[in-house]
Amino acid sequence: LDDLLAEGVEGRRVLVRADLNVPLDGNKITDDGRIRAVLPTVRALSEAGARVIVVSHLGRPKGAPDPKYSLEPVAARLGELLDRPIAFATDTVGESAKSVAASLASGDVALLENLRFNAGETSKDEAERGAFADELAALAEAYVDDAFGAVHRKHASVYDVAARLPHFAGGLVLRELEVLGKLTGQPDRPYVVVLGGSKVSDKLAVIEALLPKVDKLLVGGGMCFTFLKAQGHEVGKSLLEADMIDTCRDLLDRAAGRIVLPVDVVAASAFAADADHDVVPADGIPADRLGLDIGPDSVALFAEALAGARTVFWNGPMGVFELAPFAAGTRGVAEAITKVDGFTVVGGGDSAAAVRTLGLDEEAFGHISTGGGASLEYLEGKTLPGVAALEQ
Ligand code: 3PG
Repeated sequence: LDDLLAEGVEGRRVLVRADLNVPLDGNKITDDGRIRAVLPTVRALSEAGARVIVVSHLGRPKGAPDPKYSLEPVAARLGELLDRPIAFATDTVGESAKSVAASLASGDVALLENLRFNAGETSKDEAERGAFADELAALAEAYVDDAFGAVHRKHASVYDVAARLPHFAGGLVLRELEVLGKLTGQPDRPYVVVLGGSKVSDKLAVIEALLPKVDKLLVGGGMCFTFLKAQGHEVGKSLLEADMIDTCRDLLDRAAGRIVLPVDVVAASAFAADADHDVVPADGIPADRLGLDIGPDSVALFAEALAGARTVFWNGPMGVFELAPFAAGTRGVAEAITKVDGFTVVGGGDSAAAVRTLGLDEEAFGHISTGGGASLEYLEGKTLPGVAALEQ
């Protein structure tokens, strides 16, 4: 971005790929962290006189307009945060986008409608993706990718458009790569990783990549039940990936004690905020109950493992933190991470949203990534198409 600004952008139309994929409750934004994260880039371009055209995806619509996934509420919030009116186009490359792009004056900012309302954005067919990238590229004269959360997607606006316009990395992308690079290099030890979230299968590749490097891997969230089952415990109606039990058993064997599992869980009669619930030992989950959070003894156990850490990476909530009775595990572990005397990274997605929605002090963490899947794929050592496209 500094290179582009040094070239001069006065009057130039600059396409900014952002990741404004924020959590919504109806059309209310429940966490605007990703919008705030891209403000410095949008502001810098606008103040330098560019005509700024911001594009993003939201959710996973199926390649056609779907009002549930409209970026309109995001445009309103972006305008509030920038303290200036934002033009909003009701399509991405159609008449509305073209007329909005054409009407921008120097310094103006526009947001176009959800990229994924167009089948070409996510198509596996290169020609289809390329045709959509051609239309996007036609809207601007330069391209800035600041969508760290989407760099792992080989999508038209992330990958193909970079080949069609002079392309630049935004400050957010650069900062994320620098910070996460510290974890893949020689992190200070002890290096403790906390993983949660619902599925082991989603985290298997990152567990494999991290296992040789970490001193402790603390596992909570829905995924812990498949590990508990692999240890021979009954998990009642808790989330279970039956086809991953053998894999979990093998991981536990290879980890030789470095994978730490909850010792108690909050078990509920149903997946609901008003369901009956109790703390039960992890090896005593009743057959008719499901675990929705880790229990207080597990929080204490995890906090003890974190206390001496010099490097921490956390991805995935410890329980269903969106429902108040099942938020204590995530809160407790997050608070323990804030007390670590070392370098702490929160890996995007739900864990970053948890930090903010639980009202924790963001400043108490070393870095809160805007990438969920992207930060995991980076740690797995995978090539990130969005980064590769910028490097080419
Ligand atoms: C994310 O939330 O991780 C990014 O916005 C990417 O979204 P996706 O998984 O739907 O591609």
